[in-house]
Amino acid sequence: MTDNELSIARYRGKAASYDASAERTMALRRRTIVLLQLVPGQTVLDVGAGTGLSYALLRDGVRETGRVLAFEQSPDMFALAHRRVQREGWRNVWHTNEPAETVRLPHTADAVLFNYTHDICRTPEAVANILRQVRPGARVAMAGMKFFPWWAGPLNVLAWLKNRPYNAKAADLWEPWSLVAAHCDAFVWESTQWGMGYIASGLYKGDVR
Ligand SMILES: C[S@@+](CC[C@H](N)C(=O)[O-])C[C@H]1O[C@@H](n2cnc3c(N)ncnc32)[C@H](O)[C@@H]1O
Repeated sequence: MTDNELSIARYRGKAASYDASAERTMALRRRTIVLLQLVPGQTVLDVGAGTGLSYALLRDGVRETGRVLAFEQSPDMFALAHRRVQREGWRNVWHTNEPAETVRLPHTADAVLFNYTHDICRTPEAVANILRQVRPGARVAMAGMKFFPWWAGPLNVLAWLKNRPYNAKAADLWEPWSLVAAHCDAFVWESTQWGMGYIASGLYKGDVR
């Protein structure tokens, strides 16, 4: 089974309860979106958008004159995102049920959100395919789980256990942002959730061809 297949299988059983389980991290998700400093008229990309939990907040930033682009590989998660867009009648949200490694966007993005998208952030082909479709200088914001510092030792078994149900690459939690950070200027990150999470931002260098 590939990592993509494993992830799709894991989200099959999680989609229905996902929004309720994400409730406790909504404040962090909002903080990541604030870091994008969106302005009306921009095009923002929501990477691995899940059930579309961030769409309303992103739309608030880009307004009716801007656009939200999004992709999500799990058919179960995407079905809920699609239902959300239909229900709300949002005409400036374009989204597709495709993987990060091969998705083609209809427009270049001015800002990119990686909210809890660990497997994507740890897949070089996925990161390259996304950044190739982003405007140089675009703001990038990320949040997710990470390991505690090395000296916290056994606590990291807890971090791994918390991640395993969601991520195929749950053992790769030391610097989850590093593949994206390598393509950013002014990249900064800080710990959240007592060291088990992070929030980060930077400006895309425009160096992926
Ligand atoms: C923890 S959820 C986060 C969803 C959303 N970003 C949020 O903040 O609620 C991670 C999402 O990434 C998706 N995902 C994982 N690997 C992917 C890939 N290679 N391409 C596209 N989506 C992927 C999963 O299906 C899942 O919906």
